[in-house]
Amino acid sequence: MKIQGRITVIQELTGGGLGKLLKCRDEAGQMFVVKAPKDASPENQQLIDDEVRRLQRHQGRYVVRYFEPVLVDGRRGFAMELMDGDLTPLVRQRLPVERVLGYLLTVVQGLEEVHASGVGAFHGDLKTGNILHKDGVAKLADFGLARGGLGQTVMLGRHTGGTPGYMPPEGLASPFGDIYSLGAVAFALLVGREPQPQEVLRIQIQGAPDLEQLINQMLSTQPGMRPSISQIRRRLEALRARALAPAPVQHFLPNRNVLRTPLASPPSPPLAPAPASSSSGVGVAVALAAVVGLGFLLAASKD
Ligand SMILES: Nc1ncnc2c1ncn2[C@@H]1O[C@H](COP(=O)(O)OP(=O)(O)O)[C@@H](O)[C@H]1O
Ligand SMILES: [Mg+2]
Repeated sequence: MKIQGRITVIQELTGGGLGKLLKCRDEAGQMFVVKAPKDASPENQQLIDDEVRRLQRHQGRYVVRYFEPVLVDGRRGFAMELMDGDLTPLVRQRLPVERVLGYLLTVVQGLEEVHASGVGAFHGDLKTGNILHKDGVAKLADFGLARGGLGQTVMLGRHTGGTPGYMPPEGLASPFGDIYSLGAVAFALLVGREPQPQEVLRIQIQGAPDLEQLINQMLSTQPGMRPSISQIRRRLEALRARALAPAPVQHFLPNRNVLRTPLASPPSPPLAPAPASSSSGVGVAVALAAVVGLGFLLAASKD
């Protein structure tokens, strides 16, 4: 998209921290978002300049689309596509598993693109607030901490930002760290609350052992034990294919519509997640709503 004529700021979006986010419109009525440094400090300008380079490098189907540079009060910023919002407000809604799987699959593909862009490339600050969504599709955003890839320094150092609760326990920003953070995003969406700092994340999903195992492997405290992003995509695709498999026809009566067997008895109402146990320091959250959701999906697919 090319910005046409003068830009009108419609609304300032409440940003996470480093950037000033402005919802804008041009004279042709096109909407977009401008991100610029929050203040005049050279450090913040540098962060935005770096983010622009990384965002351009990582452009793909599941990465927020970069448009063009924009000056805001003399500071260098950039325009990008307008999305509906980030995933944080959806956490408390406890989305049905089918929708969570849909978002995860698109995030995973975005991350796969980033990881494939160069040896050691990573996002570095994956969390619900940095994943934007629109029309059921999630896209990666906020490449302020991303590193690696062709022509860039590969930095496997201490996390210099990140977000408690989503940072990997080893404290290192890396592709392995992204996998942990992705597991924490899955945890948040399925359990219905944000992961807490220092919490050892585990999830229990009754009735969906494959999904449970996959997420717990992503949340492993040992980076080398976590599955690769391509393995995660394949396993999630298999799970979704199973959940969405077309229902086989059970009976066919001539002169009548196809008769389907009745659905399995309706699922019991979801229970509240168990609070994290504080004594052991290990928080085990039970995504019962998720369980019921997936159980229902699987039951429906057998219909
Ligand atoms: N393109 C966009 N469309 C819609 N909302 C956006 C967009 N970019 C950012 N936002 C909103 O602004 C918030 C902060 O943006 P982000 O790029 O993460 O900045 P920060 O570096 O300040 O964390 C996001 O969590 C989201 O709610
Ligand atoms: Mg952010």
